[in-house]
Amino acid sequence: MATQADKRPWAVEGEEKRQAVKGMFSEIAPTYDLLNSLMSCRMHRRWRSAAVRRLSLSPGARALDLCCGTGDFLIPLRRAVGTEGTVAGLDFAEPMLRLAVPKVKAGLLLGDACLVPFASASFDAVTVGWGLRNVPDLNAAIGEAARVLRPGGRFACLDMTRSKGWAGWVSDKAFRFLVPLLGRLFGKPEAYAYLPKSTSRFVDAVELAQLLEAAGLTSVGFRKLYFGNVAMHWGTKR
Ligand SMILES: C[S@@+](CC[C@H](N)C(=O)[O-])C[C@H]1O[C@@H](n2cnc3c(N)ncnc32)[C@H](O)[C@@H]1O
Repeated sequence: MATQADKRPWAVEGEEKRQAVKGMFSEIAPTYDLLNSLMSCRMHRRWRSAAVRRLSLSPGARALDLCCGTGDFLIPLRRAVGTEGTVAGLDFAEPMLRLAVPKVKAGLLLGDACLVPFASASFDAVTVGWGLRNVPDLNAAIGEAARVLRPGGRFACLDMTRSKGWAGWVSDKAFRFLVPLLGRLFGKPEAYAYLPKSTSRFVDAVELAQLLEAAGLTSVGFRKLYFGNVAMHWGTKR
């Protein structure tokens, strides 16, 4: 018989993962931004801006951020496309999405990144920030990102990745103890235990690049940040 422990978001797949992840982000939404800044030493905004520069967006362009959460990727996207451009954000956790509303002028949609409610080739750029690790079907989400990009449109994503060598050893300790400790301090131990556990189960940076290529992206590349713990990937739709 399945126990409650088996239903934790890092221990389930498919529909159970979808529900567990949605519930978890809905619960942690009020403290998400603060903990994000603490855990990244406030670097996350700089990484997002660097990812948006990779998209080479011009004023008037159309950009979509999948798994947009509280909207922090939408801000540099809006800056890049200007007031005449289109910025859309999609997430399935309403409490996260609600926090994006006052931050940025963007179309916000409640929906699933594995089944994106836009026509093919609708966007000049698609981004995903710390989202792909959480989706129940990674190939479906990458496929949807590629599908809604126009030929020549650009993709960029940021997510946690496994770090190697001495930096990997130090980060592993920090991840396993400090992140759950922060979670406990903020009263959400399970949600923050999810971060290291989901990272260790996620594809590595090379595998993610291969999946992006298999989905029809070309000029795929990646760069590791934050002592190798964060990976920025990019690619162009064929
Ligand atoms: C770690 S947060 C990242 C939020 C935001 N992108 C950022 O950079 O801060 C992950 C987000 O992905 C969303 N998410 C996870 N799986 C999803 C799915 N299948 N469809 C839509 N959103 C999803 C969660 O609700 C959550 O808001």
